[in-house]
Amino acid sequence: MAADKTMMPPRPNLFDFHGVSMVHYFTDNWEKIQNFQARPDDILIATYPKAGTTWVSYILDLLYFSQTQPDRQTSTPIHDRVPFLEITSVPNHPCGTDLADNLVTSPRLIKTHLPVQMVPKSFWEQKCRVVYVARNAKDNAVSYYHFDRMNVVQPEPGDWNSFLQRFMDGKMVFGSWFDHVTGWWEKKQSNPKIHYLFFEDMVEDTGREINKLCSFLGLTSTTKEKEQIRHQSQFDNMKKDDMANYSTVEVMDFKISPFMRKGKVGDWKNHFTVAQNEQFDEDYKKKMKNTMLQFRTVV
Ligand code: A3P
Repeated sequence: MAADKTMMPPRPNLFDFHGVSMVHYFTDNWEKIQNFQARPDDILIATYPKAGTTWVSYILDLLYFSQTQPDRQTSTPIHDRVPFLEITSVPNHPCGTDLADNLVTSPRLIKTHLPVQMVPKSFWEQKCRVVYVARNAKDNAVSYYHFDRMNVVQPEPGDWNSFLQRFMDGKMVFGSWFDHVTGWWEKKQSNPKIHYLFFEDMVEDTGREINKLCSFLGLTSTTKEKEQIRHQSQFDNMKKDDMANYSTVEVMDFKISPFMRKGKVGDWKNHFTVAQNEQFDEDYKKKMKNTMLQFRTVV
């Protein structure tokens, strides 16, 4: 839906929140978020923004509910089926914690972009399963840039060069990409309830990654069901699905950029100059030198 800019709220400012850059939309309810009561069968879908959250949410929702509640997929937008934990209420829409509290289906699928140290403690106490999705830094930055251009609840992105500099500096909503992906990676090393998956692997072989998700979640979907889900969740099909493509969300202006934009690995090559790429690689090496986490896209 084209947004009427005159009715839109002003762009929010970034501020430091316990060492992480944030905008008020995700901190206004902080007490409620931190006191959120997870249930043991909740599944948390955790990502840095623009790493493939919607894709994995869509797949998990189909895996759990396509057989038992087929109407759910055609009648309810993905952001209502999978509440966004930390989002505050916006006109005509409850905040994420209220939406999650009122979900009657089980399991609840809950989305978060919080860095690992900010996740409400009840998720760990209840030993909930977590699916974390990571995407290579360069494509993640490009996707985030286009998202910030079209979404008024995000800060003004500025031009690409200044945005990329801010990305490297970690001055993004939800903080530094580097801290996020490595923080969750470290947590996974001691927590078998975290399944860490990569956007690039999903693109390479969605069916294989769906099989891994089923093993992790203890699901016994049939080969036919899994094939149907693989097909339904392909980029072109999700892009056409108004319950998945965010066309029902008014704060996004699709004339500037669609939510389902390209869905590719390597689009960064269309954005980075040679100089930006060299600077990024140098910075990346320094920031990633102490982690075993490796992305297979060459950086
Ligand atoms: P691009 O902007 O590179 O196209 P999130 O859901 O975390 O906001 O991530 C959005 C990114 O995931 C966008 O990337 C979007 O196009 C991509 N995406 C969503 N569904 C996809 C799918 N089925 N296949 C490939 N990419 C997908």
